[in-house]
Amino acid sequence: MPVTLALPTPLWYQTPVINALNDTKHRYVIANFSRRIGKSLIAKGQTIIWALERKTKIGYVLPTGGLCRKFIREIVTELSGAGCITESNTMDKYIQFSNGSVVYFHALEEFSRGSGGYKKMIFDECAFLDEQVYRSVYEPLTLEADKIYMCSTPNGQAGVFFDIIRVHLLVQTLIDDPVEGWQFYHKGRDERSTD
Ligand SMILES: Nc1ncnc2c1ncn2[C@@H]1O[C@H](COP(=O)(O)OP(=O)(O)O)[C@@H](O)[C@H]1O
Ligand SMILES: [Mg+2]
Repeated sequence: MPVTLALPTPLWYQTPVINALNDTKHRYVIANFSRRIGKSLIAKGQTIIWALERKTKIGYVLPTGGLCRKFIREIVTELSGAGCITESNTMDKYIQFSNGSVVYFHALEEFSRGSGGYKKMIFDECAFLDEQVYRSVYEPLTLEADKIYMCSTPNGQAGVFFDIIRVHLLVQTLIDDPVEGWQFYHKGRDERSTD
């Protein structure tokens, strides 16, 4: 049975990011946004879209276990009544869909082996992600992914997110909002064609 969803209408600065998350050109989509303007909303909506469009495996990384549990509850609530979730567990941090898709959540503050083999990965608030931890724990989980969404507000001048935006700010076109501090770009780092 097709699921009809009423996801929030994207705001103008969210649309290019969502387009990049759904195209076949960009493997990495990086949103460098200020606070509370809808980075996680994009991430949660996209998680639902990816999970429902075909059977897939999604890894969703967040700073804390509390946020993982909150986001699991929000996604489950959003889809309640649609009949597309077969199981969810805030302790083991996953959502299982009836089409076979699974979303596994990882909290940076907790050790987790994760399932790996993700086709899609989200690093939400990834300015809190330490470069070394990223390289040793999380980057290996991205190897099979055709989309990696990293979103954050910068947090100091260290870590994987700062490294990525620093380099890309120099070499990529930055699209910025006249409203102070709201800026974004999307970028096909390590572009991969799925054709
Ligand atoms: N396109 C949108 N339509 C309606 N509400 C939105 C939209 N984008 C963001 N919001 C709301 O703005 C608030 C902040 O969004 P959130 O995704 O948590 O921001 P961030 O992750 O950037 O801090 C939330 O209440 C969210 O529902
Ligand atoms: Mg957020």
